[in-house]
Amino acid sequence: METVAEGKLNKQEQREVIVCQYRSCLANGSAEVLAAFEAAEIPGVVVAGSGCQGQCSSGPTVRIIPEETWYCRVTVQDVPAIAEQHLKGGKVVEAKLNPRIHLYFG
Ligand code: FES
Repeated sequence: METVAEGKLNKQEQREVIVCQYRSCLANGSAEVLAAFEAAEIPGVVVAGSGCQGQCSSGPTVRIIPEETWYCRVTVQDVPAIAEQHLKGGKVVEAKLNPRIHLYFG
């Protein structure tokens, strides 16, 4: 059950899509991924580029906060699914989750 303090905190937390714009992610197309998220104009969601997120071998790295969902090897073609299914629909795109961070027991 959510406490009153947690509820207040959650309402204050801005939902953000963070797209790594550092070396190896950039080399694999993260600038285009960032542009595609910006173009998607998802209500209530801020899109931002960032420095290295520490997942360079599986970039482009896309991180959703505050819930801390980490996507890996994100391409421009993946952006509509993440935007529609996850950010608007509330259901993560499991096929793109970073397995180093999100463990499966299925
Ligand atoms: S360069 Fe993107 S996670 Fe390190």
